[in-house]
Amino acid sequence: MDIRPRRNRKSESIRSLSRENVLKASDLIMPLFLIDGENKKDEIKSMPGIFRMSLDNIIKFSEEMHGNGIPAVALFPAIEDSKKDRYATESVNDRGLYQNAIREIKKAVPDLTVITDVAMDPYSSDGHDGLVDEKSGEILNDETLPILAKMAVSQARAGADIVAPSDMMDGRVLYIRRALDEAGFTDVGILSYTAKYASAFYGPFRDALNSAPKKGDKKTYQMDPANVREAVREAELDIAEGADFIMVKPGLPYLDVVKTLAEISSVPVAVYNVSGEYAMLRAASANGWLDYKKTVMETLVSFKRAGADMILTYHAAEAAAWLKDEKN
Ligand code: PBG
Repeated sequence: MDIRPRRNRKSESIRSLSRENVLKASDLIMPLFLIDGENKKDEIKSMPGIFRMSLDNIIKFSEEMHGNGIPAVALFPAIEDSKKDRYATESVNDRGLYQNAIREIKKAVPDLTVITDVAMDPYSSDGHDGLVDEKSGEILNDETLPILAKMAVSQARAGADIVAPSDMMDGRVLYIRRALDEAGFTDVGILSYTAKYASAFYGPFRDALNSAPKKGDKKTYQMDPANVREAVREAELDIAEGADFIMVKPGLPYLDVVKTLAEISSVPVAVYNVSGEYAMLRAASANGWLDYKKTVMETLVSFKRAGADMILTYHAAEAAAWLKDEKN
């Protein structure tokens, strides 16, 4: 007998029958950067093709993406420096830029799921995800929790479908869950940034929001890139605390973590293909060194193969448009 694996690859139709994983627009979540103003659209230098947009443009773009089958957006606010303080006070303002945008997006595109960011950094004068002790510079865990909980409730009140704590404080999923339930938002889900690594791949995102830490780094709360067992521990805790979805972030350098958590998780697993990963494919393809579309699609299906149920990616809008064209 002659065993020849190539028989299963001999034509596109046989390859399509043999294919184990398929990327769909419905797997994709598009991150969006919101700025104040009208008719604004500034390109982020380190992320060509990605824009900070005012609400009117975010709504237009969201309608278009939703029409191409994108089920959800993850919204991030760029806050003026003058509105930042050490308590991230502006983040709990029900009439703030962010809350207003959440309300208006839900009004304009009700079926589009809006995922909001729960962390202090876009609003913090220290650029950290938690409250910073003025003397020691330490990131204070338990003092941060009530701030996060108020932020989550304010976002839920504005209409957020899912809140996504990206801060990595201990115990925040349970704390936020209780606060949401007490405020009557039992239907608002929690997508926890469960295994969020202290990664250098977030650089372009921090440029976009001007949210880099003023002092120090995030290594006392974000995870050590060398660890995977710790990701399992974080996942077990988050699920026990009531997380509806867990996330691994960044994506490509952490596919093993995605696979490990996908195997043990009782809730859906998300992966965040972050800003630096986006920038790499953009830069290489702008130089003519890589084929942009092909490397994007190969990257995205790798997340499915690793076991991710949903992918946050800056390529989402383009990928959904390509997938739609293929069908027509
Ligand atoms: C912070 C936050 C970060 C990202 C999402 N939320 C950056 C950080 O932790 O400093 C990064 C996303 C990306 O790089 O695309 N709460």
